[in-house]
Amino acid sequence: MLSQNHLHVSLLYIVLLTGTKYGCGGGGCGACTVMVSKYDQLNNRVLHYTVNACLQPICTLHGAAVVTVEGIGSTKTKLHPVQERIAKAHGSQCGFCTPGMVMSMYTLLRNKPHPTMEDIREALGGNLCRCTGYRPIIDGFKTFCDVSNCCIENGTKQHNDSDVKELFHMDNVLPLDPSQDLIFPPELMKRACGSLCFQGDRLKLISPVDLTNLLELKTEYPEAPVVVGNTTIGPNMQVKGVHHPLTIYAGRVSDLHTVTWGKDGVSMGAVCTLSSLKEEMERAVREMEAERTRGYQALLQTLRCLAGKQIRNMATIGGNILSANPKYDLNSVLAALDCTLQVMSKVCDYAISHYLNGKDITVLRPDEVLLSIDIPYSKPWEFVSAFRQAQRREFAFSIVNAGMKVLFREGTNIVESLNIYYGGVGPTLVKVGRTCQKLVGRSWGEELLADACRLLEEEVELSDSAHGGKVEYRKTLTTSFFFKFYMQVLQELRERDVNVVCLFPLQLVSNAQSSQDPVGHPMMHQAAFHQATGEAQYYDDIPAVQGELFVYMVTSTRAHAKIINIDPSEALGMTGVVTFLSAGDVPGQNRRMLFNNPEELFAEEEVSCVGQIIGAVVAESREQARRAAQMVKVTYQDLLPVFFTIEEAIQHQSFFDPKRKLERGDMDKAFETVDQILEADEIYLGGQEHFYMETQGLIAVPKGENGELELFVASQHSAYTQEVVGITLGIDSNKITCHVRRLGGAFGGKVMKIASLSAITATAAVKTGRPVRCVLERGDDMLITSGRHPFLGKYKVGYNNDGTIMAADITYYSNGGCTLNESLIMEKALLHMDNGYKIPNLRGRGLVCKTYLPSYTAFRGFGGPQGLMVMESVLHEVAVKCGLPPQKVREINMYREEECYTHYKQLFSPRDMLRCWDECLDKAGYHDRLQAIQQFNTSNRWKKRGISAVPMKFGVGFSKGFFNQGAALVNIYKDGSVLVAHGGTEMGQGINTKALQIASHILKVPMSSIHIKETCTGNVPNAAPSAASFGTDAVGMAVKVFQRSLASDLIACNDLCSFPQIFEAYCQKVSLSATGFFMGPHTDMDWENSEGPAYYYFTFGACCSEVEIDCLTGDHKNLRTDIVMDVGRSLNPAIDIGQIEGGFVQGIGLYTIEELQFSLEGVLMTRGPSQYKIPALCDVPPQFNVHLLANAQNPHAIYRSKGIGEPPVFLASTIFFAIKEAVAAARRERGLGDSFPLSSPATAERIRMACEDQFTEMAPSPEKGTFKPWSINI
Ligand SMILES: Cc1cc2nc3c(=O)[nH]c(=O)nc-3n(C[C@H](O)[C@H](O)[C@H](O)COP(=O)(O)OP(=O)(O)OC[C@H]3O[C@@H](n4cnc5c(N)ncnc54)[C@H](O)[C@@H]3O)c2cc1C
Ligand code: FES
Ligand code: FES
Repeated sequence: MLSQNHLHVSLLYIVLLTGTKYGCGGGGCGACTVMVSKYDQLNNRVLHYTVNACLQPICTLHGAAVVTVEGIGSTKTKLHPVQERIAKAHGSQCGFCTPGMVMSMYTLLRNKPHPTMEDIREALGGNLCRCTGYRPIIDGFKTFCDVSNCCIENGTKQHNDSDVKELFHMDNVLPLDPSQDLIFPPELMKRACGSLCFQGDRLKLISPVDLTNLLELKTEYPEAPVVVGNTTIGPNMQVKGVHHPLTIYAGRVSDLHTVTWGKDGVSMGAVCTLSSLKEEMERAVREMEAERTRGYQALLQTLRCLAGKQIRNMATIGGNILSANPKYDLNSVLAALDCTLQVMSKVCDYAISHYLNGKDITVLRPDEVLLSIDIPYSKPWEFVSAFRQAQRREFAFSIVNAGMKVLFREGTNIVESLNIYYGGVGPTLVKVGRTCQKLVGRSWGEELLADACRLLEEEVELSDSAHGGKVEYRKTLTTSFFFKFYMQVLQELRERDVNVVCLFPLQLVSNAQSSQDPVGHPMMHQAAFHQATGEAQYYDDIPAVQGELFVYMVTSTRAHAKIINIDPSEALGMTGVVTFLSAGDVPGQNRRMLFNNPEELFAEEEVSCVGQIIGAVVAESREQARRAAQMVKVTYQDLLPVFFTIEEAIQHQSFFDPKRKLERGDMDKAFETVDQILEADEIYLGGQEHFYMETQGLIAVPKGENGELELFVASQHSAYTQEVVGITLGIDSNKITCHVRRLGGAFGGKVMKIASLSAITATAAVKTGRPVRCVLERGDDMLITSGRHPFLGKYKVGYNNDGTIMAADITYYSNGGCTLNESLIMEKALLHMDNGYKIPNLRGRGLVCKTYLPSYTAFRGFGGPQGLMVMESVLHEVAVKCGLPPQKVREINMYREEECYTHYKQLFSPRDMLRCWDECLDKAGYHDRLQAIQQFNTSNRWKKRGISAVPMKFGVGFSKGFFNQGAALVNIYKDGSVLVAHGGTEMGQGINTKALQIASHILKVPMSSIHIKETCTGNVPNAAPSAASFGTDAVGMAVKVFQRSLASDLIACNDLCSFPQIFEAYCQKVSLSATGFFMGPHTDMDWENSEGPAYYYFTFGACCSEVEIDCLTGDHKNLRTDIVMDVGRSLNPAIDIGQIEGGFVQGIGLYTIEELQFSLEGVLMTRGPSQYKIPALCDVPPQFNVHLLANAQNPHAIYRSKGIGEPPVFLASTIFFAIKEAVAAARRERGLGDSFPLSSPATAERIRMACEDQFTEMAPSPEKGTFKPWSINI
C-alpha cells in the first residue's frame, strides 16, 4: 500500500537518490527535472521528455522508464558530456539547480543531438538558477550546438586585447556519443495491460485504458477529477491542501490522444500535451500557407511563453481549458478562434459540440468528459492575435491575457465579425460581446479605435478591490491590448521586419600568471562534477536514520494578538503524531539573541506577525506532521495597533533603536548658497525574498551520551547556530556539533532564522530522544524566514545649475518587521550613501520601522543596494531638473582626488573606480549608443529605449570589527595528502575552491592532493559568518597564515608535502597539523562623531545597461549590459565573474521583477515560484559583457584579490534607471514632465502606468479610503 505522497508525488521521495532536488513542490523551479521515456505504439517510436518529478504522480508512470541524473553519468564511472560541460564552464555554483539543468539538456540531446541555441533556450526555460545568472550554463551547453546553428560569437575571436582569456577550454572534453545512451527497456514495449487501480491509505487512483471505461467511472464517481498532467490538481493538493480521495487518470485512454487534420482544421485530443499542441501548430505554420494558419500563429505566440518546457510536456489542452483558471492562457485564444469542444458522457454516448465561449467551460457536467477540441483554420481576410503580460516575460502566469480575431468583408476594411476575449479580468474568461457587436459593420479606423476603447472601458468590470489587485493596470491592459491589435491589423497588410539579437557573446578576463599555479586561474568549482551528477549531498539528501522523526512548524495566523490558548489535542490524536512542542517544552531559554536583541523561538504570550512560530508538531513522517500541524487550534485575542507599512510606522512613530545618523559639512549653510533646492522627493524600494533553491532545514541527532547532539544544518553561520542551540537546551556548546557540507544557496538568509529552527528541532530531538528532521516547504520558508528590507528614501537636495550637488539630506526608513533581527543593515545603507560622489555636505538619517510583519533579515549587499539606490535616485533627479544627461551629472560629482575621504572620514583612492567608469563607458560604446537610442525613440511611438550607467564603491568586510577574523585547520598526512578545514561555508560562492587554490599554491602540491572537509564547529570553532564579501579574505588569509606556523617547519625539508619529506618530518617529530588564524583589520564606527574606518577596503565597479520598453503593456527587454569590475588580482576569474553575473541577475530581480504582495491582514500572498518571480533565462541581457579591470591591485587582501560576493547586486540598478529613461522618452512625447515617481521594482505594471496616456486615463486610481485594496505596499 502506498501513502498519499507516493500516489501523488514522486520519484523525489520514492527513489533514494540524491540528484532529484526539491525546490518548490509546485512545478515552478525545475530542480526536480527528470526524463521520462514512453513507447508510442502507434508510431513505433520511443518518446523522451522532461517532467517535474514533484508533480508527476508515480502511478501515472506505468510502462514508462524514468532517467534521473544519476542514470546518465557519475564521478565513479564516467561523466556524461552534459555533466562535464556544465561543470567545466563554471555553470554550477551552489549546485542545487544543476541536476535539473543537466536533465533538461540531456533530454534535449536525446531528441536532437545537434540543437540550436533556440532549442537550448526553450529546454532550459523551466529551470531556475539563483546563483549563476545563467550565462555560464549557456556557455557550457552551447558547445553542443552546430557552429552553423549557433549565433554566438566567441569573444576571444572578436577581441584581440592582451587581457583576454577563455574561462574554459573545449579541448579535453568528452564528445557527445548518442550510441552510449541508455536504451529504452524492451520489456516496456509490450502492449500495455488493462485498467489499473492504485490504493493508498487516503487516496485511490484508477487508470482506465478505454473511453467506455472512463465514461463509466465518471458516471459512478462524478466528483472524482480526471487527472492527466496533474499540473493543476497536483499543486492544489500539495501546496493548497485540497483533498481528492479518488482521482481518475485519463492519460492511457488512446481515444483522447488522437490528432486529426481535416478540411476545416485540426481536432486535438483532450489529453494531448501543450508540447504536442505546439509541435502540431509549428508544423502547420511551417507547411501551410500563412493565411490559413493565422490563428495557429497566435496560438504559438502564447504557447512559447506559457510555463516551462517540463510543464508543457505534462500539461494537457483539456486540463488547461477545463481548469477554467482566468490566469491560464489558452481559453482566451481558443475562444477567439471559435474553437469547439467535443464532450461525451455515458448517458449521451456521442460527442456533443460546445462553443468555447467562457460559459461552457464551467457548465461541463460532472459525468462528462472532454474528448477533443477542434481548432479551425483561419479564413481569408481574418486576422488573429494573442496577448499576454506577466510579471516575468516567460515561465510566469499572465496578469491579463487576450485573444482577438477580426474578419473583414472581403476586399474592404469593414468589420464583419469580431471576437475579443480576456483572461485575468474576472473570475473566468470574459467575452466582451457588447463591444464586439457594436463594432461590426464599422470601418477599421481611428473612430472605431476610440469607440472600441470607450466600450471596453464600460464593459470590462473590475472592482477596485478585485482579487489579484493591480486593478488600474489590468484595466489599462485591456485597452492597450486592443490598441496593439488594432495597430497589428493595420500592419498585417504590410511587410514586417524581424529583429534578430545575438545571444551571449563571451566576456573578457584579464590574464594572470603561470598555468602551473592555480591562484589567478579560472579553476572549476571544486564540487562541480559531484553537483552535476547529483552525488553532491545537501542536508536533506542525508538518508533517514532509524527512528527519525519529522517536525513541522505551527505558525501564527494573526498579525498582532494575545495567545489565549493552544490546543494540540486533535493533532496529537492523529496517526503517526509523536508529540507537540511549545514554549513550555524548551529546557533552556526560549529565545535567541543577536547583539542583545532577543527573539522568542516559540511565541509565548503574544504574536506580532503572521508566520511567527507558536509550536511544532513532531510525527513519524513529513506528511503526518504537516497534516497534524494544520489541526493545532490556537485561540487569539486580537490586539491593537496593527500596521504593516513604512508610512504607517512613521505615523505611529514606531521605530527601533538605535537611530543612526551620519553627517559631514554644514547643511544649513549649504542650502542657503545653492542655486536650486529639490525638496520632499522620495523613492520607495520593495523587499526581496532570498529564494535560495534549497529551503531551510536540518537534521538534529541526539548522541545519547553526555547530552551530545549533532546537527546537519543548512546554516551560513554554524557557530551561531551552535550557540543558540546550546542556550535553548541549557547545555554547553562543546556538546553540540554543527556540520555543514554545502548549502543550496543562502545569500544572507541562512544566518538567523536557521538558528531558531535548529533550536526548535534540537528541542524536539532531545524531548523524543530520536533524530528529528526539519525541512521547510517553500511557502513556509518564504512566510517564516522573510528577506530583504523594503526601504523608503526621502531627500532634500541643494544643487547648482551645472549639476553640482552641494548638499543632500536623506532620511532612510526601512521596514524592519516585528523584531530588530538584522536591521542593522541600516548602518550599511548609511555608510554607502555617498557611493562614488563627493557631496561636500551630506547627511543621512536611518530609522528602522517596527511593524507587524515577520522581521526582515540579511540579504546579499546587506543594505548597500538600498543605500546606493537612493543616492543614484538623487543624482538622476538632479540631472532631470538641470536638463543634463544623468551620466554627466554623475561625472561632475564623482570623487576625483587621489586621496579622498568618505562621509565617515575613511581614506581611500577612487582611482580604480574612475578607471572602471571610463572603461565601462568606452567598452559599452555609451555615447554612440545614446545617439542611436535617441533616433530609435524618435521613430518608434510605442516602444522606447533607455540607457544608463552607474559607478560603484562598495565596502568589504564587517563594520563590526570583531567579525573580521578567520581560521583554518590544515592537517598533512604521512602519505603527503592534505586535509583543510575552515570556518567558511560553501554556498556556491566557491570558497572551497579558492581555499584549495591557496593551499595548493602555498604547499606546492596539486589541488587533487588536497581535500576540504565540511564546515564543522568541532574542527574550527567560533567562526564568523560567511558574509559581507569577506569569507574568502578571512579563510584565504587563515590558510596562508598557516604557512608560517607549519610550513616553516617543513621548509627545511625543501620539497613540501612530497611523501619522503613528509615522512621524514614525521620521523623528526614535526607536527603535521596546524591552525591558521587571521586577525582581520579592526574596523569600527563612531556613530556619535560620524567617523570610521567602517571597512577593510573598497571594491569598485561600473555598469552600463540598455533596455527597451513596450509603452502599451509595460513589458521590458534587457538588451545589453556591460560591467567593468575591479576585483584586484582575481584569485579565480571564473568564480569572480560567476559572482558578478549571478549578483547582477539577482539585482535584476530586486529592481525590476520580484514583488512581494501582502494582504491587508499582513499575510504574505506571494509564497512560491508561481506567484513570486525571480529572474529566468529570458531576463538575462542577450549581450552581457563582464570585464575584470586589468592591472588592479589590492594590498589589503589575500594575493591582492578583492571580495566580490555582494557588490554586483547594485549594478542592476542601471536597468532600473534605463527603464526610467525610456519611460521619460515616452512621456516627453506626450508633453509630460521627465520628473515622475517610479518605485522599485520597476514592474510591468509600474512601467505601464508611468507611461501615462489616453488608456491609463481611462483607468484612474480610485480615491484612497473608498475601497479595500487587494494588497498593500509594505
Ligand atoms: C509551474 C506552472 C506554470 C504554469 N504556467 C502556465 C502559464 O503560463 N499559462 C497557462 O495557461 N497555464 C499555466 N500553467 C497551467 C497548466 O497549463 C495547466 O495546469 C494544465 O494545462 C492543466 O493540464 P493538466 O493535464 O495538468 O490538468 P490536470 O491537473 O490533470 O487536471 C486539471 C483539470 O482538468 C480536468 N480535466 C482534464 N482533462 C479532462 C478531460 N478530458 N475531461 C474532463 N475533465 C478533464 C480535471 O478534472 C481537472 O479539474 C502552469 C502550471 C504550472 C504548474
Ligand atoms: S521542486 Fe519540482 S519544480 Fe520545483
Ligand atoms: S547554482 Fe543554480 S541555484 Fe545555485
